[in-house]
This record gives sequence, C-alpha cells and structure tokens, in this order.
Amino acid sequence: MVEIELTATPKQHEILDWRSEEAIVVNGYAYNGTLPAPTIRAKVGDTVIVHLTNQLEAPTTIHWHGIDVPNNMDGTPLVQPPVQPGDTFTYQFTVDRAGTAWYHPHFDTEHQVNHGLYGAFIVDDPSQPVPENELIVILDDWDFASEEDDGSAHHSHETYYEGVWTVNGLVEPTLELSGSDALSLRVINASNFGYAKLGLPTGTVHIGSDAGLLSKALETETLILTPGDRGHLLLPIGPSPVEVLKQPFSHHGGESIGDPKVLWSQSGSQSASPDLSGYTFDLASPSADPSHTDAYFAFQGDPRTMRWLINGEVFPDISPQRFELGRPAIWELRNISATHHPFHLHGMAFEVLSRNGIQPEQRQIEDTIDLALYERVRIKVPMNNPGQWMTHCHILPHGDNGMMTIISVE
Ligand code: C2O
Ligand code: CU
Repeated sequence: MVEIELTATPKQHEILDWRSEEAIVVNGYAYNGTLPAPTIRAKVGDTVIVHLTNQLEAPTTIHWHGIDVPNNMDGTPLVQPPVQPGDTFTYQFTVDRAGTAWYHPHFDTEHQVNHGLYGAFIVDDPSQPVPENELIVILDDWDFASEEDDGSAHHSHETYYEGVWTVNGLVEPTLELSGSDALSLRVINASNFGYAKLGLPTGTVHIGSDAGLLSKALETETLILTPGDRGHLLLPIGPSPVEVLKQPFSHHGGESIGDPKVLWSQSGSQSASPDLSGYTFDLASPSADPSHTDAYFAFQGDPRTMRWLINGEVFPDISPQRFELGRPAIWELRNISATHHPFHLHGMAFEVLSRNGIQPEQRQIEDTIDLALYERVRIKVPMNNPGQWMTHCHILPHGDNGMMTIISVE
C-alpha cells in the first residue's frame, strides 16, 4: 500500500530566465510546497491512498493521468464535487498496469496546472529492472509573455509564445549521476501547450511510453512529447557532460526554425551504456484493424477565435457517445484543423491501429497521442472500465475552450 498526503497551497516559484539571467517570480501553486510535487511510486497491484487538502482560494481536484482508476476516483468535476477551499478528500484505488503517469488538477485545469500543480506517478512492474541511476523529469514551459500583473497566466487569445522551459522547476540544470548503470529516464511533459521534441545523446534507447514498456526497444535520437505525454528512455552516461536538447517544434505545424535549447546536461562518475538484458519485451505486433468504425471524433477549431470543437460541439454543450462495457470499440480520430492536438482519454489506455492508413511498427498502447495536422488516426479502445469518461485535447487552453467531450461506458 502507498499512502500520501498532498496539500495544495499558493507558492511563489522563482524561474531563472536565461534571457535576462534574472529570477522571474510567479505567484503560483504547489503540492506540499515543492515543484514538482512529490513522486508517487507504486507497484502493480498496490492500493494507493491520497489525502488531498485544499489550501488554495479556489476549488480543486486531482486527476490521475494515465492510471485506470474507478470512475468516481477520476478527479474530474464530472464524477466528484470539486474540493472546496479548506476541505479534504481521499482518493483510493489500486494500480493494475505499469507505466509512467502523472497527476494534476482537473478543475480550472489550464490555470491550475500552469501554476505548478503537477507530480509524477510511476507504477513499477516488479519483474522489470529499476536501474540504480533513474531520473524522473517533468518538463514545463513558463509563458511569461502572457503573465498578467496578478500573476495569472490566462490566455485570452492564442499567442503561445514559447516561454522558459524548466526541468523539475530548474532552468538548464547540470545533473551528476553516481551509479554504474546507464540512466533510466522517465520524462513527462506537463506544459500547457508546448510540444517538446527532445534531442537525445547517441545510443539512447526508447523503452517505454504511457502504458509501460514498448513491445520492443528502439534506438532513437529524438522523442516528441505532446503536452500530457510521457516517455521512458535509457541513456548512455559517461564522465563528460552530455546535453539533452529541446529541438524546435511547434504545435502549429511540427518541425520549426530556430536553434535547439539545452534542457539539462548530465554526467556520470562511470561510463555505462543501455543494457536491455534484464527487460522483457513482449514483441507483440499491432492488432489488425477490423475496418468498421464505432465512433468518429473530429477535432476542429481556429486559433484566431479560440473556439475549439469536437464533432462540432463545444464543451460543456455536448452529447455523450455511449459504448458497451466489455466490447472494444474502434474510433477514428480526425484532425481537421491547422494545429496539432494531443488527444487524451481518461480511464482506459487504447491501442493505435493506424495513422493515415499506416500501421505502427509495433503494438502501441497509449492514453495521450499526437494528432498532427489533418491526420487520421484509428484506435481501439478496450471499453473495460465502466463510467463517464472525459476525452479532450491536452493543449489545456484548447480543452478549457471547448475541445473536450464525454463518453459513457455502460
Ligand atoms: Cu491530464 Cu483530462 O487530463
Ligand atoms: Cu488542441
């Protein structure tokens, strides 16, 4: 069992701006006074109990992004009355699947996440190794261009200047690793709208995503993480410092111009390269697409009007689609707008069957995926968790401006 208390309070964050070399003070929030919040770490099968105390001046909730919780523990205003200032609420559930997940509020989400309420939630599979050198990194993008005098960072229109990226709240930290293993790196992108395209050292191996290990490991030098997305990598280490970069990439169209920025640099006391021998990859191929479609979800909108829609509807004026419990459903997601949208489903991880008609190289189980410009993605949703679930764009200003809907599994 894992039991933890989380208290949400106001908190000033000081972010060192590399442009001016001065600390910028953000009147934000934190859980237990830290940025990021404490990591919750459990093993498959564990019961997790979290006592939330709300010491903010606004109501709040906690959503367990990437954990298949029972519906009433999902932390959205759909399934619980928001926790009022001064009140407490206890979340309790068991974790039944390994993976790199995270937690954040789901009430006034854009504002509260943007101000520092987020933490990692790692679920270990006891049959897989946990290397000596493990680093859990939460990336965030602090968009001071839109910061108002009162410290709030609401967007009235979609400017989305790239701000200062932080790594666990720090700008360009240097990390020193002491163990003799390669680095096991879990990365979470908690930014409200910033896509992070990581530039990784040669020899890096991608081993896991949202829902635990991939079906096979892949050598890679880049990884694109949408807002809300996670990755698990093994990185070579050595005595000379190696940088992890953020390559220019924008949700307005992908690869973009500009210079890469250093996110952090790291060095080890000894040299080590990724060793996959302790891991068991299941080598599964993607499921066949049965070619019928149970539901379509069209993502539409316009950055000039900031009206964002799914199937022509603006949340909360939506009509929930219903699905039968226990009967997997095939969905077709269509991005019919000129910006990327990170699609996220609560309550269940799904399998990606194809992107623009092309099957992935290996079986891909996710809860957050990118929908690139005009892309058509087909997924299989297991429909194995009953209740009303939110599904939305994880560019939080899009979600909070209507690109959000509800499905019902019964
Ligand atoms: Cu990360 Cu609906 O949430
Ligand atoms: Cu979006």
